[in-house]
Amino acid sequence: MPTDSLPPNFVPSPARGRVLVFDSGMGGLTVAEEIRALGPALGIHYSADSAFFPYGDKSDEALTARLPAVAKALCDRVRPDVFVIACNTASTLALQEVRAVLDIPVVGTVPAVKPAAQLTQTGTVGLLATPGTVRRAYTAELISNFARDIEVVMHGSIELVKLAEAHARGEDLPIEAFEAAQAPLFEAPGGDRIDTVVLACTHFPLVRAQLVASAPRPVSYVDSGAAIARQTIRVLPPESEARGIGGHAWLTSSPEDVPDLALVLRRYGFPNVQRVPDAPIEITSAPTAL
Ligand code: DGL
Repeated sequence: MPTDSLPPNFVPSPARGRVLVFDSGMGGLTVAEEIRALGPALGIHYSADSAFFPYGDKSDEALTARLPAVAKALCDRVRPDVFVIACNTASTLALQEVRAVLDIPVVGTVPAVKPAAQLTQTGTVGLLATPGTVRRAYTAELISNFARDIEVVMHGSIELVKLAEAHARGEDLPIEAFEAAQAPLFEAPGGDRIDTVVLACTHFPLVRAQLVASAPRPVSYVDSGAAIARQTIRVLPPESEARGIGGHAWLTSSPEDVPDLALVLRRYGFPNVQRVPDAPIEITSAPTAL
């Protein structure tokens, strides 16, 4: 599934090293794709806290308590050079808490408010995210720093997260489902002026085509995937070396869930899937060679 956002004069980075991408589910695969396109010599691995999916409707307390423990356990196991939280819901809440327990660079994902504010012609931007990201102080601060003169209309949808995850698993979903999931954004006060929509959840680029097809009128959809990829290469410690080719994935799901998710992961270049126990996350089996 190649990324379609590469400019014609694109030159891949020669950077080497091990990167661990993390999300609640399959949304972070959209970010992993961007990192792979920019850094084809990196060893990229994937991890998902799929037992706790979706993050977007969980309490701040539950997520803040869980995220550092999950991140630490995964990094102790995988020993990456960089940990990428490919999840807006987690990053806008607990980036500092995760950084505090890791001794490697941690890249977070935040809504692409700044590029959207530069792109809009009407001066009204839509922000489609999880309910968690919509209510975050971090998101409000981002808007006041980078979109002060822009009207930002927000909508949080867990339904759209679930549709994107189901789509990734290969389910055939009617286009009306996507239309209904994004309609509240365009129907909110000011929604009729939106010309640019921030996909502020990494799951949503998985269904970009469905969103484009079911929008009430043509609008631009922007996400932060390419910016996260650039930041990952930027913070990679200079001494990082190639250590395998990547392609492993870790899930916290129950065993019944793993086969379906493993099929998705295989399609995205992560054929070696293992399960890790649910919270409190403890990795007990012996590490496999990566
Ligand atoms: N993919 C995640 C994000 O970017 C969250 C989806 C969820 O688990 O609710 O916010």
